[in-house]
Amino acid sequence: MQRVIVQALGGPEQLLLESGPEVRQPVAGEVLVDVEAAGVNFLDINLRKGAGVHAMPAPFTPGLEGVGRIRAVGVGVSLIVGQRVAWINVRGSYATQLVMKADLVVPVPDSLAISQVLLFQAMTAQYLATEYGPIEPGDHVLVHAAAGGVGQLLVQWLKHLGAWVVGTTSSEEKAEVARAAGADVVINYGRDYRFLDELMRLTHGRGVDLAFDSVGAATFANTVKGLARGGMAVCCGVSSGPAPAISPAELTTRCTRIAAGSLFSYIVEPGEFQLRAASVIEGIEAGWLRMPEATAYPMASAADAHRAIESRLTHGKLYLVP
Ligand SMILES: NC(=O)c1ccc[n+]([C@@H]2O[C@H](COP(=O)([O-])OP(=O)(O)OC[C@H]3O[C@@H](n4cnc5c(N)ncnc54)[C@H](OP(=O)(O)O)[C@@H]3O)[C@@H](O)[C@H]2O)c1
Repeated sequence: MQRVIVQALGGPEQLLLESGPEVRQPVAGEVLVDVEAAGVNFLDINLRKGAGVHAMPAPFTPGLEGVGRIRAVGVGVSLIVGQRVAWINVRGSYATQLVMKADLVVPVPDSLAISQVLLFQAMTAQYLATEYGPIEPGDHVLVHAAAGGVGQLLVQWLKHLGAWVVGTTSSEEKAEVARAAGADVVINYGRDYRFLDELMRLTHGRGVDLAFDSVGAATFANTVKGLARGGMAVCCGVSSGPAPAISPAELTTRCTRIAAGSLFSYIVEPGEFQLRAASVIEGIEAGWLRMPEATAYPMASAADAHRAIESRLTHGKLYLVP
């Protein structure tokens, strides 16, 4: 078995591929999986640096998400050897083999490409679009970083629900990607994250009913200012750093609301993970949900994949292959 380790908290150079011990056989309720691909996510970068609410000490193997084939099953598992499965919440997924609890995987069709069954970003979009609503047709919704992996999928989900969607991106090239995902209008906030004046102009001074802010430090204060009366800003990421504290007094005159959340809190009830995953697969098979373009890196080049995400030049999914 091979796995990537973060030797010490820090930069991408801390990621090294090493030969690990032979993987143990699964016990009751577990499966052993041969990894086909491990998804690379923004969260992995924060963990590598030791930042954010999920931080942990090094050394550790990063990664949470993947797709693979079952090699062995423990007692009481109804999945079968050879079945293709996906997961989004298994620590240490940058590895060639993994043992995990059977209820952390969902079967996925053999017919779908790897990029279609790396489910973390799409399930995040599904959770955001369904838990902070209900979203009514015509609602004005802002999605920051709309060309990112979560951003493109969230735009599509909101359009499917009938919302009018404003996206933000840092370049014209990314704005094209956000438009292709379905955004009605895109504001290029450049590298200094300027969007508020244009947002208010586009909404005739009203603001938006709902705003999804995964950028955090650089945008959140203005995101809240861009809300319509009674509107809600959802803090759902920290791509530029943690969002600033905002006092309730700042929300009073326009009766606006702030929420924050994580997909991990919405996959804890029995069957919840499977239902959300099924909803994503249905959207793909029905043809209205298109997964972003994906780029594969050899597992030995995990550091390059991290550098690419941190460079902000990517717009889609990155994943590692054994
Ligand atoms: N709440 C949850 O449950 C949940 C789940 C998954 C992901 N997330 C969070 O959602 C965010 C997006 O995730 P993702 O997988 O879509 O990542 P991604 O594909 O890498 O997209 C991140 C986007 O953030 C923007 N960005 C703004 N400032 C940045 C900076 N200083 N450094 C890097 N990127 C910056 C970039 O777009 P522009 O260049 O256009 O600004 C980039 O395309 C991350 O913060 C992630 O942690 C939250």
